[in-house]
Amino acid sequence: MAESQTIGVFGAGWVGLVTGGCFAELGHEVIVRDVVPDRIAALQAGRMPFHEPDLPDVLARNRERIRYTLDAGDLADADALFVCVQTPPTYSGDADLSFVWSALDDLPRVDRRQVLVMKSTVPVGTGEKVRAALEARGLTNVGYVSNPEFLAEGHAVRDFLAPDRIVIGAFADEDGAGVEALYSRIAAPVVRTDVASAEMIKLAANAFLMTRISFINEIANVCEAVGADVVEVAQGVGLDHRLGPHFLRAGIGYGGSCFPKDSLALKQLASNSGYHFQLLAAVIEVNELQKRRVIQKLQKHLGRLRGKKVALLGLAFKAGTDDMREAPSLVLASRLLAEGAEVRAWDPVARPGELMKGAVLSDSVLEAVTGADAAVIVTEWDELRGLASAEVRDAMTRPLIIDGRNLLDPEETRRAGFAYEGIGRQSSAFESLPETPEPSERVSG
Ligand code: UGA
Repeated sequence: MAESQTIGVFGAGWVGLVTGGCFAELGHEVIVRDVVPDRIAALQAGRMPFHEPDLPDVLARNRERIRYTLDAGDLADADALFVCVQTPPTYSGDADLSFVWSALDDLPRVDRRQVLVMKSTVPVGTGEKVRAALEARGLTNVGYVSNPEFLAEGHAVRDFLAPDRIVIGAFADEDGAGVEALYSRIAAPVVRTDVASAEMIKLAANAFLMTRISFINEIANVCEAVGADVVEVAQGVGLDHRLGPHFLRAGIGYGGSCFPKDSLALKQLASNSGYHFQLLAAVIEVNELQKRRVIQKLQKHLGRLRGKKVALLGLAFKAGTDDMREAPSLVLASRLLAEGAEVRAWDPVARPGELMKGAVLSDSVLEAVTGADAAVIVTEWDELRGLASAEVRDAMTRPLIIDGRNLLDPEETRRAGFAYEGIGRQSSAFESLPETPEPSERVSG
């Protein structure tokens, strides 16, 4: 393919807009198609449907090269058609491919060769199924390539334009070469392989990242029992070049739109073929238990949680995004409410709506912690680095901080007059806190 190509994108969601915007940034003509009229109208008017740093600038800068449309017929001009639709988990844990099939239904019929490129995360074997479906429909001029995305929310534009690698799995060499040429302005290793291996690379990479997180979380839990500090341990372990420093931050478990869904899909994919993926099953279970450990930490200090006021600080599944899908905050809030606690919640950008029914939303950190028996750092927002202040201490009924992200310095926080519990670090002696009065003993008003 020549330098500047025309690229069609199915789906104006997060992956579709990052892909479309970044290809325009690389000099290609881009047509983004979605089935939701409001979304297309908003994009045409220059409004962003979600929060992703740098993306608004990329889309605005390349306005001349990006078209948004509802009409799949407009994709007839495209040389490559990127499929960037959702693949949510079904009831059985498999990936739901119905949006992928609708994209196939809408493929424009053209005479020249087009390449369908799968960016969405799909089970291994999807490419083979799509190829069969294309053949059954007589679309023999449409090639198929698997080109998984490795974009993390909060720095997706950087991940696209400066990736660690570009993975391209193709049935026909010429299709793989065509897709590789689209990325020619990016200097990154290119892995050219078969379709099934490309699909597996994506699932295996995510599963390995999750394994590292659950591993360090379990090391953290052991650190608590034996008096070691997991932050120090992770640093010492990560300096081994065979291990590396990434994804060794202990915390309250992973969440988001990818890890929980992809781990279930891979586990299911293995079981469908008769293989029990034991390690992955353990990784998932450790993550579920990790989210709940905060409750035990609160109980250790506060006794029964009924009537206690707990401030959840940070609701997004990680900092830098307003995404609350599978966020640990959701599990924490519902566990606390089930224990009869009063939940106050604060986040600088995430708005939970119905997702956190029963919790009271606060406009500021200070409002959330006022009168609280404990403050829990759930998301590592920079705004929370100064939490251990005199103002916060005086506002709280009990100056207890549970730091689910090891964001604060334990010693400084204790010096500032707080009882402090991190994850995998020495905790404050709980006797140091005054006895918790039961709700009936509290003075009202
Ligand atoms: C993840 C991968 O990082 C991307 O490479 C991948 O493309 C994407 O999923 C996807 O499959 O589409 P994302 O879910 O946006 O990206 O977020 P991450 O930054 O990877 O974080 C995932 C979760 O792990 C967060 O809840 C985060 O708090 C947690 N985490 C991460 C830890 O608890 N500890 C760590 O050391 C790192």
